[in-house]
Formats: sequence, C-alpha cells, structure tokens
Amino acid sequence: MTISIDAVATKSGESALSQAEPCVIVIFGATGDLTKRKLMPALCHLARQGALAEATLIIGVDREPIGTEDFRALMQSAVREAKGAQSFDADAWRQFAQKLDYFACDLKEPGHYAGLAARIQDLNGGALGNRLYYCATPPMLVAPIIDGIGQSGLADETPGWARIIIEKPFGRDLTSAQALSDTIARVFLEHQVYRIDHYLGKETVQNILVFRFGNALFEPVWNRNHIDYVEITAAETLGIGHRGGYYEEAGALRDMVTNHLMQLLALIAMEPPIAFDADAVRDKKIQVWRTIKPMAATEVAAKTVRGQYGTGRIESNVVPGYREEPSVASDSNTETYVAAEFRIENWRWAGVPFYLRTGKRLAQGVTELAVHFKRPPQPLFADRTELIEPNVIVLRIHPNEGIDISFDAKQPGVEMRTANVRMDFCYQQAFNMRIPEAYETLLLDGLCGDATLFTRRDGVEAQWRLIDPILAAWRQQPPESFPNYAAGSEGPKTADELLARNGHQWRLLNTRVASTHQTGAKKSL
Ligand code: BG6
Repeated sequence: MTISIDAVATKSGESALSQAEPCVIVIFGATGDLTKRKLMPALCHLARQGALAEATLIIGVDREPIGTEDFRALMQSAVREAKGAQSFDADAWRQFAQKLDYFACDLKEPGHYAGLAARIQDLNGGALGNRLYYCATPPMLVAPIIDGIGQSGLADETPGWARIIIEKPFGRDLTSAQALSDTIARVFLEHQVYRIDHYLGKETVQNILVFRFGNALFEPVWNRNHIDYVEITAAETLGIGHRGGYYEEAGALRDMVTNHLMQLLALIAMEPPIAFDADAVRDKKIQVWRTIKPMAATEVAAKTVRGQYGTGRIESNVVPGYREEPSVASDSNTETYVAAEFRIENWRWAGVPFYLRTGKRLAQGVTELAVHFKRPPQPLFADRTELIEPNVIVLRIHPNEGIDISFDAKQPGVEMRTANVRMDFCYQQAFNMRIPEAYETLLLDGLCGDATLFTRRDGVEAQWRLIDPILAAWRQQPPESFPNYAAGSEGPKTADELLARNGHQWRLLNTRVASTHQTGAKKSL
C-alpha cells in the first residue's frame, strides 16, 4: 500500500505520501460524472499532498468540443462542488490547473487516437513516457478505447510504462467478462491492467487484513470452531437517482455483489497470504471464490432473496418506489435488494454460513461485516445457554468507521447479573487524521504500480462463476411480488426467513446503537 499506517502525520493531520514517478494521466470520459465527482478531486488532493511529481500532466479526453481553458473551468467548479466552497483552496487549484490539458475526440473512433499520441508527445518533450490511462466511461466505450490505444501504439511500454485503470462493470456475466478481458488482452498485458473496485480503496476495508493478520489475538479463533456465522451488509438509503438507465440493466446483484460484497467476503475469509504483494494477496482471495460451490439451479430459490423498493419514507420524506424513478419501466422486475447465503467449502469454514445483503432505500446507510461467535458451551451464569449473548465483532466500513466487539460483563450489584457491553474502536478518535478518499488511494497505487487493491482477470471470472447461476435461475422465475419492501424499511421479510432457517438473524439497520437484533439489555441468573 502506498500510504503507510506508521506514516508521520503532517501539519494538516494527514499522512506523508509516496511521490509517484512523473507521468501523463489520460482520462477518457473527462467531462463525465466520475471524473467530476471523484477523479479530479482525488488528483487535486494528491497534487496538494506532493504525491504527483512536478512534471505530471493530466489530459482529459472526451467528445465535447471544448478547449483546455474551458476544461479547466469545468473541473474547477466540479472540484469546488465536491470539496465544498469552504475547503476549496484557490491557490492550490491554480497550481494544479497548470497540469490539465484537454483533447477532444470521438472515443469510438480508433483513428482519432493518433492525434492523442501526438498531443502526448507534444506536451511531454517528444516522448510518450510513462502513461496511466483511466477509462471513466460507460462500458460500451471500453472496447473502442482499447482498440484506439492499441492502434496508435499508446500501450507500448518502451520507453516508459503504460497502465490502464478500468471501472466496473467487468462484463454482465462470465461470457461477456471473458470477452472484455480478451479485448483488453489484445492490447495490454495483464500486469498493465488495473480493474478498479473502489471498496478496496476504503481505509476500513484495507483494515480487515490488518485486523486479521496483524494481531495474534483474532486469527486463532477465525474459523468454524468458534464462528457461528458472518453477515456482510451494504445498505443504502439512497435510491437510484438519475442512474435508472444503467440500473435497469444491472440490478443490485451485478451492481454490488459481483465486486464489492464478493471482495469483502474474500477479505474476511481468505487464508493469510505469504506476502503483502499484489499476486500473493490476490491469489488467496481468488482461492476463496473458487472454494464456494456455485449454486445449483434448484438451490437458488432457497439461498437467495431479491427485492425491489416501493414508495416509503426516508428520514420522514416520502420517496417514490423504484418503478416510479426516472428511466425505469413501470413494470420493472429489476432487483434493488439482494440477500444470499454462501458456503465456503474448505477446512476453515466448513458449516459456517456467510450471508450477504445489499439494497437501495433501506432504513439506514450501513456497510459492515459482523462476525458472530458461538455461545460458550456451558451456561455458568445463566440457567439456559441461549440466554448468554454470543460475542460479535463488527468491522464498520461506514458510517463511524471502526471496530466494535461485544461481550458479556457482570452488571454492578450484589446479584450475579450479566449484560452485553461493547468495546468500540473509532478511526476518527484513534488517529485524528483525515481518512483518504478511496479514489486517492487507488489512483496513487495505480501511479506507483501497486496492483494489490485491483482485481485480476481470474478474480473477475471466479466471481462471475458464482453469480451466473443465480442470474440464470432468476431469469427462469420472474419475481412474483415486486415491489416487496417499502423505502426506509429493513428490506423484504423473506430475507429474515433466509437466516431464520438456520436460527440466525440480521442485525437491525435502524437501531445502530443496539449491537444485535437479539440484544436483551439484562439477563439474570
Ligand atoms: C457503486 C454502485 O459501485 O457503489 C452504486 O454502482 C453504489 O450503486 C456505490 O451506490 C456504493 O458505494 P459507497 O462507497 O457509497 O458504499
């Protein structure tokens, strides 16, 4: 990782960063939403932190017929909006803006890329030099961009290196993912390809590995002998906003499970890698996905739940149902919620269910992993074992990034009464440092050639092998009762039944103060 945990805090309370080699960053889709909301603010921040070398250039490429000055003005207002007028530093921006250039071209036209090559050489003292390409475009433009890069010699690595960062989705099933990877492989070698999953850039997601493998305390109990089940949740209160067109084609399973949730599952379940380097870490993650047996068609109905939100209330505002959202069909069967149970069939995890859930317009925005431990074997302080509260370790990705461990303690008093209490580690309090945006971390890793937090081709394919059977079974059996959960609720009732069959329960979303569903405040002997 480029940002070291032991790094000394600077005066502004931020970590000292490594400086990347000088290079040309080429952003395809430079006037789009991702560039405005995430990439430009992240690059501007990296420049301010000294992570971009003086000679680094950023060329925005898109079809809009604008000039460099217009592009700089557009990016200035985007960065101002993303950071908030208060934190926008006009001096820092002026310096950063000097790095920006714009090249207008039809991204679908491979013939136009020779002009881009000439522009890079022009700006870069006659050489192509080091290049980092970023595909921040809709998926259908990725193949033409790759072809254009290939035909104009822009992927060549002599002299200098050439890398490409590609945004999800990496296909919409195994076959299309393989076709996309084949297209990429015609031009780039795998070591040049950085498939981005922004979850991996989140501090708290990276911390899962440090928590597990940097402490002797937890790893010995991290297995089927001690762990009862694992819950992985990514719940959002947001709806689909203006992304109806994309979401109708994707749905929650493709949008969130085949990437973000699968990554979280791999990090919580993987074996220790032999080193903390790109291949060692990624090999172990892929091993987890390969160890899960893809669901048989007959299992899908019992092991998955899909949902779609109807109208409801979010923070006391009435919000429309999914079918009423812009660009969504009024009889749409696209799922906005998924819950699924996976089993990792290896020595460590045999018999332990891993439950994943994600959804839009739920009661609270929560991303977390909850590891539920087994109850103690004997009821010493309660007359019935089921009254003893099991330990739960919650790794909170968002909000209140941190780790929460719950355990039973004696309540003060002459009687022997127990209560469930929590030990809470909060990032913000412990480090009192700004937490970097995921895109800052990942862009800097891309610039420094560290692919640990990016997905490899075989990883993408291993994930699709698990998702394809679910998609196929769902296609055969359209949902019967969409919408089946109200906006602002906990999700479909059937998701509770998924866990109840095994005697388990989801943690409630809307009472984040309570550790678990089943937390009873007090228990007496
Ligand atoms: C994106 C999905 O990849 O992740 C969105 O396409 C989702 O639908 C988003 O809202 C969630 O990311 P985060 O960082 O807000 O949890």
